[in-house]
Amino acid sequence: MDALVSLCKRRGFLFQSSEIYGGVQGLWDYGPLGVELKRNLKEVWWQDMITGHNELATLAGAPSPYEMVGLDCTILMHPQVWKCSGHYDLFHDYMVDCRESKKRYRHDQVRGRFVEYNEQKIFVTTLAEIEHELEEIQRRALKFFKLRAKNAGEISIGSESITLDRLDSHDEVLGPDAKSLGTLTEPREFNLMFKTTLGALGGAEDTTFLRPETAQGIFVNFKNVLDSSRMRVPFGIGQVGKSFRNEITPRNFTFRSREFEQMEIEFFCHPDQSHDWYRYWRDRRMAWYTAMGLSSDSLIMREHESAELAHYSVGTADIEYAFPFLPEGEYGELEGIAHRGDFDLRSHMEGKLDPATNPMTVQLGEDGKPKYRGSGKDLAYRDDITNEKFIPHVVEPSAGADRAALAFLCEGYTEDQAPDEKGKMQSRTVMKLHPRLAPIKAAVLPLVKKDGMPEIAQEVYGELKKHFNAFYDAKGAVGRRYRRQDEAGTPYCITVDGDSLSDRTVTIRDRDSLEQTRVKIDDCVDEIRQRILA
Ligand code: GAP
Repeated sequence: MDALVSLCKRRGFLFQSSEIYGGVQGLWDYGPLGVELKRNLKEVWWQDMITGHNELATLAGAPSPYEMVGLDCTILMHPQVWKCSGHYDLFHDYMVDCRESKKRYRHDQVRGRFVEYNEQKIFVTTLAEIEHELEEIQRRALKFFKLRAKNAGEISIGSESITLDRLDSHDEVLGPDAKSLGTLTEPREFNLMFKTTLGALGGAEDTTFLRPETAQGIFVNFKNVLDSSRMRVPFGIGQVGKSFRNEITPRNFTFRSREFEQMEIEFFCHPDQSHDWYRYWRDRRMAWYTAMGLSSDSLIMREHESAELAHYSVGTADIEYAFPFLPEGEYGELEGIAHRGDFDLRSHMEGKLDPATNPMTVQLGEDGKPKYRGSGKDLAYRDDITNEKFIPHVVEPSAGADRAALAFLCEGYTEDQAPDEKGKMQSRTVMKLHPRLAPIKAAVLPLVKKDGMPEIAQEVYGELKKHFNAFYDAKGAVGRRYRRQDEAGTPYCITVDGDSLSDRTVTIRDRDSLEQTRVKIDDCVDEIRQRILA
């Protein structure tokens, strides 16, 4: 992971936000290569899920044909949206404060182990990365017991690393930044939405929130989309955009950030078919990640236990990836596919529903009126053929663009051997990104900076640039130029050599197989296009 993080900075994939001022936790900037990777990722998702979808065909595994459209909604919305969605009163994490260090931690993210010495048993915590966790716990325990490194054998450290939320009491806990025991408070709820003010007056009425998910913009526009597009259920609405969560402990590079992008679909279907659609989307989204290059050995589909599900939901599954910063055997969520029933549309219609009621009824305040008033608008759908009126059920495949970008970077990062220009094997770092995702599709390299080669190379480059993000590099030994492109994840290097002058051909070098193929200059654009889409 350290090698990947360093490559991301060195080659311009990711930078810490506001780095010259010391950075801000949980905020990341995408550099020149990173921005292209993330744009490609969102574009490929949009193309594969929305614009490229053929509503006339029945896709493999789909119960029937369906339509897909997109939306681009505002980040700031009417405050009532968040009351009816449940985010206002339900979207929180548990956190603990340290009375000694004055720091705040997410209860379920502080890890530690029991340590025994001289008949005293304490729980030593750390926020260190998993590979340094044990040595850090030993270091902290020795310090606490006032022992030297040479006495390490006298303390006994438990074999299991567990999180704080699994302990009954914090009395014997050594907090991550504390010197004494029992300094952590009991867990308290902490709402994850960023509060902000609309307009200049700043009264309570003007308080709203930066959206914590893009989904709600889709629900509140359901009727607008229906009326303007004349679509028939089943159909899906997709949206890609920024979401914000005031995560208590952002960590693991971009995995848990405070500002991130989501790629969400709300798929509206007849309640009787929602089970089949749920299964379809779960499998379809898993297949998308493998088609884009994630190895199926590193991916799992984790179906939530029925006890974890809301009673109105027939299922929720998380697509999880074995991120290298996680302990062996653990996976991190890339995307959730949730069956949400009619909770969202009905809540925006009637007032926030109480998810604990069965069948669900509007949650009432002390005055007997809806605790959070809905819009009062009729969000039901009438089937113009059967004349049946119903509130569609929703299946929601909700992906994170930043988490997906991180997974593709982790998967792509490879250290292998490749021959240099003299045929001698050298170790190289290569970012094996799918050609559709790669920031630069092709680099054009004149073998030497003379004999008419740069002129031909610039001609090839000019043609490619009309179609793809290409890169021109004439500086240094060609082997070094290949290495730089390998690290950037460029799938094809086009080399102009002496023969190019006489026969107007160039070689295309494949980043992964290292195979070199001779093609006509006039066929370069088509050849690269075919290879990207292959
Ligand atoms: N509308 C449903 C929803 O928002 P979620 O599981 O909270 O569901 C969906 O989020 C996806 O958004 C996650 O699977 C993850 O990829 C991404 N995501 C959520 N919180 C994130 C964070 N703090 N940083 C980066 N990505 C995040």
